[in-house]
Amino acid sequence: MQENYQNIFDKVSDIITEYLKNSDSDNASVIDYHSPKDLKKMLDIDIGDEGISYENLFLHLENYLKYSVKTRNKQFFNQLYAGTNLAGFLGEIFSAISNTSMYTYEVAPVATLIEKELIRKMCGIAGFKNGSGIFVTGGSNANLIAVFSARNKIFPEGKTQGMRNAPKLTAFVSDQAHYSFGTAANLLGIGSDALIKVKSDETGKMIPEELAKQIVISEGKGEKPFFIGATAATTLLGAFDPIDEISEIAEKYNCWLHVDGSFGGSVILSKKYKRFFKGIEKADSFIWNPHKLMNVPLVTSVILINEKNILRENLTKLSTDYIFHENEDENCDLGEISIQCGRKVDALKLWSAWKFYGNKGYEKRIENLFDIAAYFEQKVNEYPELELTAERQSLTVCFRYNPGNVSDLNNLNLKIRENLRKSGKSLVNYGYIGNDVTIRFVVSNAEVRKSDIDIFFEHYFEIVNQIKSE
Ligand SMILES: Cc1ncc(COP(=O)(O)O)c(C=O)c1O
Repeated sequence: MQENYQNIFDKVSDIITEYLKNSDSDNASVIDYHSPKDLKKMLDIDIGDEGISYENLFLHLENYLKYSVKTRNKQFFNQLYAGTNLAGFLGEIFSAISNTSMYTYEVAPVATLIEKELIRKMCGIAGFKNGSGIFVTGGSNANLIAVFSARNKIFPEGKTQGMRNAPKLTAFVSDQAHYSFGTAANLLGIGSDALIKVKSDETGKMIPEELAKQIVISEGKGEKPFFIGATAATTLLGAFDPIDEISEIAEKYNCWLHVDGSFGGSVILSKKYKRFFKGIEKADSFIWNPHKLMNVPLVTSVILINEKNILRENLTKLSTDYIFHENEDENCDLGEISIQCGRKVDALKLWSAWKFYGNKGYEKRIENLFDIAAYFEQKVNEYPELELTAERQSLTVCFRYNPGNVSDLNNLNLKIRENLRKSGKSLVNYGYIGNDVTIRFVVSNAEVRKSDIDIFFEHYFEIVNQIKSE
């Protein structure tokens, strides 16, 4: 049966327009919270033997939107991503409807050219003169490919023989680095115990002298240090490791230098804040998640490698003549440098958003994020019952409620944050600094303004006052 596209898409347009209006309004909730048990009862999630009409399907999909977290709401400060800009969203729906795979120019001609151009542009920004790169399925997997590339460079035999005869490889990241490095070491036969966590200072930055010390200790044990992962910026404290100083150590000890910019990579688009990346051009790899600070739909993640052929050489050539053909499209088949076969067209949404805002638009958006984080920090300093739990480094502000007469601050701060979450009014996350609970505010939505921060504190103190009156 020929579907009536016009009716269907008129309906889609109504639903999405309503959703955007509702999510963006100052009075909207971030979430209509229900426990998993209650939510399951409220929704009809089972799939039956018989299908349903589009009309019914829309009812289910509307429910999906109704009970999902409105990450685009300007009170969503919970994760390192937030919402999506419209231009990125348009790229996403156009790539979804054309539904192709990135492996060959043959089936993805425009997408291939777009991805190659974005990689060229991003390598240029990082100062990778002979670079290449590929879109991957998230920062964690990008870190995996960085460790994989480094392992293959130091021990190329491992590609065919496995790690039986490998030297005892050791990798180094800070004690604030993302947990995905441990999984990468585990998966690649290096072992997560061989991932050495280097001490960071009180602001969360890796201490270069500690790194050098740990490398020397490792060498003294007959191990082979091969990989250093610097972070830009760290997940909780937003700290940028000193890349330039770390690069000298990497060179001295012949280690691969990787920069994990999953969170803060997009900051490189701002001339004012590019200083955080001093020395980046000396790194061997750099990963960057536009789905975080560029507000492009999840997942949009890129690994850049500072040497042309590494990604191609990583792969094991099997018989692939049924997919990669020799023709004039040669060197255009991105499947030949990806560990995926089928791969989504993630490049279109980034291209669409970047084309729309331009370099200058993005520069302004990133700088607005820093202004908002500074304003949030100022507000924390102004409220006598709040205190910063760490010095602000970039886009996260770590703080807690401390009126001075409470013995169990952890419990109280967890309770405030949990009640706030369930109220649906504002969403902010928490972590631990040592044994102390810290509330982590993070701003990643470039549409957030200072008035939204004022609203956040109204919501926050409403909850504090409710708890006080209990
Ligand atoms: C520093 C850092 N690295 C890696 C990741 C993982 O990125 P992804 O969530 O895209 O896998 C994150 C996620 O927040 C991160 O903050």
